Amino acid sequence: MRTFTKTYADPEAPRRALDHHRWIAHANPDVRIPAVVQVRPTAIDFEHIEGRHGTAGDLVTLAGLLGHQHTTAHIRDLHAARMDAPHISGDITIAGFADDRRGRLHHLLASGSVPGPALTREAIDGWLERAAMMPTVFYKDANPRNFLITGADVAVIDFDSLTLAPFGYDLAKLVVSTAMATGPLHEDAIRQAVDAYNRHPSRHGLPGCSWHEFAAWCEFHHILTAPYLGTNNYRFSWHIARPTYTTDTLRHFDKEWTL
Ligand SMILES: Nc1ncnc2c1ncn2[C@@H]1O[C@H](COP(=O)(O)OP(=O)(O)OP(=O)(O)O)[C@@H](O)[C@H]1O
Ligand SMILES: [Mg+2]
Repeated sequence: MRTFTKTYADPEAPRRALDHHRWIAHANPDVRIPAVVQVRPTAIDFEHIEGRHGTAGDLVTLAGLLGHQHTTAHIRDLHAARMDAPHISGDITIAGFADDRRGRLHHLLASGSVPGPALTREAIDGWLERAAMMPTVFYKDANPRNFLITGADVAVIDFDSLTLAPFGYDLAKLVVSTAMATGPLHEDAIRQAVDAYNRHPSRHGLPGCSWHEFAAWCEFHHILTAPYLGTNNYRFSWHIARPTYTTDTLRHFDKEWTL
């Protein structure tokens, strides 16, 4: 079998990736992921999968896949998870949403290196508090390079990152990272992606992701992905590429909340 070898800096990282791979296989049994062929101390040989990376033209397809993955994982396993506590599933632990994320968001914002942030430190904490009350799904870094597409088939790759997250959080990663690679996205394309995503939770009576929440999660990803601008094919900063209605939505609601 042709393989793709991924190497890691230390032995802990492949151990974590293997746990995440096992959990995704269990939580999303009908989603294609590469088989693990061989494990070495600082490398994993995965089954090689043919395919191209995601593009702006794949947003609706990939959003639908994410909606399906998250809804299935919520129903099968994560319905009992608490957003801000590590979730233990058999011998696999998935980190909570706020755990490391709060510190990284605060640190990056305080550094002054994030161009045009739309959230303050207080707003970030407010959103983390609200997220703690939301149904739990997962974040697995849905950047467009973590999908391999051939015709109508989509495989999901890259098991390095996995944390708990609310509905829509990883969809926002897909949208922000796609816009950072290809430039501003049409408003309709983003709306269609959010609708395609929400169709899955709504079929099961789950709330999905509101516009307001989606706008906030995009701003989380803006802060967290800004350090990678200029790498990974990221040529556009979200503060240039973001549609104005996302920040308008945030301003509008935040004003209501403070009244
Ligand atoms: N199983 C696989 N079969 C074929 N190609 C793969 C496979 N796994 C990874 N790749 C290719 O290698 C790239 C990088 O792999 P991966 O996403 O796991 O690493 P990464 O360190 O996150 O890199 P990046 O930051 O570019 O996403 C993928 O975008 C894909 O093109
Ligand atoms: Mg990757």
